[in-house]
Amino acid sequence: MAPKIILLPGDGIGPEITGPAVEVLGAVTRLEYEEHLFGGASIDAHGTALTEETLEACRRADAVLLAAVGGPKWDTTDPTKPRPEQGLLGLRKGLGLYANLRPVRPLPALYDASPLKRERIEGTDLLVVRELTGGIYFGERTRTADSASDTCVYTRAEIERIARVAFAAARRRVTSVDKANVLETSRLWREVVSGLAADYDVPLDHLLVDNAAMQLVANPSDFDVILTENMFGDILSDEAAMITGSIGMLPSASLGSGGPGLFEPVHGSAPDIAGTGAANPLAMILSAALMLRHGLALESEAAAIESAVDRALSDGLRTSDLGGTASTRDATDAVLQQL
Ligand code: IPM
Ligand code: MG
Repeated sequence: MAPKIILLPGDGIGPEITGPAVEVLGAVTRLEYEEHLFGGASIDAHGTALTEETLEACRRADAVLLAAVGGPKWDTTDPTKPRPEQGLLGLRKGLGLYANLRPVRPLPALYDASPLKRERIEGTDLLVVRELTGGIYFGERTRTADSASDTCVYTRAEIERIARVAFAAARRRVTSVDKANVLETSRLWREVVSGLAADYDVPLDHLLVDNAAMQLVANPSDFDVILTENMFGDILSDEAAMITGSIGMLPSASLGSGGPGLFEPVHGSAPDIAGTGAANPLAMILSAALMLRHGLALESEAAAIESAVDRALSDGLRTSDLGGTASTRDATDAVLQQL
């Protein structure tokens, strides 16, 4: 039986980039799909960004492919109103997806599309390993009319399991990023990560997050694996995306221990260009490739998609985020043609 994939197109450009990913997947393998409303679309239909039924369907699937959530329609500072992002956080937590992998590998064809100078980005091939189900994203919150608080909690076990993912993925070294000069959670983080280093044959360094933000644009090719907590990983991965020229290029995989993984682009729902047919579908297509590799153990099919994307870009494919005029349809056709 074909593996069962839950598709969550979500909001904004989400539906427009989901179709292309399914087309590209169809060119390399046979999968069975079930589509569910998610994020703002689910709020409109059901009053909540993630229904119990959708979460259950995801739990039973082999993998979940998600496009993007959110948009001005659901933007609110009212803490009692549902938000599309709650769906994403609920899904990550509900599936126990503690390890978020965000590879950043600018293609030579795109070196000149990056705002950074070619000499700086040449040879960059890094992986952000972001802890995804702990920290300030999931700590207790309080709110009164005049004050608010968010709590950041990490346990030794949470730090250990994500650090092991980073050490296992590293080839040259692990750079653990924290704010140990200020935060207690970061001091525990540093202690736990340092304690594990002896189990692996990979050098480890520690960087404070502010310095890491600077080094990431100053010397991106020095990094191999960046291991960090939830919030720092969120921020640094957007920064790292620009090394590839556009956030429209970055895929991600979120994995837990054994159950279905979640695969999604790093970018958001881009409401400003939704419906124009101009969205870059490549991060979504590359997320589908990560799904084949990490979610379904279909390595050669994953590599075929990645190499088709590389070749399409080398042949000059440029969507508007990369300074070109190719539409979503053109980009999809260019990848399909290479496949
Ligand atoms: C991401 C996004 C999410 C996050 C938002 C939409 C909740 O920015 O996946 O990086 O902060 O994790
Ligand atoms: Mg983010």
